[in-house]
Amino acid sequence: MMNTPPPPVLITGGAGYIGSHAMLALLDNGRTVVVVDDLSTGRRGAVPGDVPFYQGKVGNKALIGRIIAEHGCRAVMHFAGSIIVPESVARPLDYYQNNVVSSAQLLRACLDNDIKDFVFSSTAAVYDGNTGGAVPVAEDDNLAPASPYGRSKLMTEWMLRDIGAATGLRYAVLRYFNVAGADQAGRSGQYSKAATHLIKRACQTALGILPHMDVFGNDYPTPDGTCVRDYIHVSDLAQAHVAVLDHIGDSGGNLTLNCGYGQGFSVTQVLDTVDQVANDMLGVGPMLRRPQPRRAGDPASLIAATDCIRKTLNWQPRHDDLTAVITTAMAWEKKSMDGMDR
Ligand code: UFG
Repeated sequence: MMNTPPPPVLITGGAGYIGSHAMLALLDNGRTVVVVDDLSTGRRGAVPGDVPFYQGKVGNKALIGRIIAEHGCRAVMHFAGSIIVPESVARPLDYYQNNVVSSAQLLRACLDNDIKDFVFSSTAAVYDGNTGGAVPVAEDDNLAPASPYGRSKLMTEWMLRDIGAATGLRYAVLRYFNVAGADQAGRSGQYSKAATHLIKRACQTALGILPHMDVFGNDYPTPDGTCVRDYIHVSDLAQAHVAVLDHIGDSGGNLTLNCGYGQGFSVTQVLDTVDQVANDMLGVGPMLRRPQPRRAGDPASLIAATDCIRKTLNWQPRHDDLTAVITTAMAWEKKSMDGMDR
């Protein structure tokens, strides 16, 4: 007798940076998917033509309900949302609307339509990153988001915890540290027109797309005074999504896991590595760096404690190396220079 294939996974934000890589990982693992994305920051071309695609908001309960019912989805991966820390400081209400209110509407549609498994994109920005010292943070450490962005994600975590306790919904919260790099085969990458993220901007500077690199703050309580982050390759993160979906399907969830490598790099170390990669790949000299004041909402140091994810999931990082992460990011930027959206 043939096994029935599992129902398709609904991916919100599947045309975006991390969502599109998770979609590729699911497809590579033989799963089927359905994508909903409002294309506010995502790119239609990131979703293959044979994947069912709906342009719409996750807060549109009727639309989401129709999609789930039509495709018989039983699992949702929720990537859609606003993700820029300094922007959230300037426009907090947009973040509470896009990340909290919309998630509540989506969850309502899920409960009304028999969704069993839910994977949520949360963030390291829920932690207190200002305690000083480069100590990795564990899932049960103090939660003290420094920005409206972090608070909006934490509020959704709380909704999920309460809903998980009150209903049969099995959930996984993945707290992403700093995601970077691009699919090694060049199928997807990060493509925002006005990028804010460190590695992407640094690659653009090395390629001459940007004139110089701003360095926000050099007086943090870190070894060289610049902020420290734990950079994880987007394809390793995507693979963690496949693994966690299998895990909650098998064991029932509900869990919260850090997604990082457990190693911190300062802004200066990242820029030095970008210079090195740019020299090797492009033969260019070091980029121009411009010291700037601290950026609002930035914690000093965020490094993941990774024992939990390594023990819980069948997950082996394959790109755990800053040079490798930056090399794929640079390759994507270079490819994107010729005509595509960035
Ligand atoms: N930075 C610069 N110059 C730039 C851009 C960034 O110095 O041009 C610095 C920032 O001030 C910060 C560090 O580089 O110290 C990393 O900044 P990013 O903007 O790349 O990333 P964030 O740490 O602010 O936030 C990212 C994601 C969030 C996620 C968080 C988890 O945007 O969604 O990582 O740590 F929650």
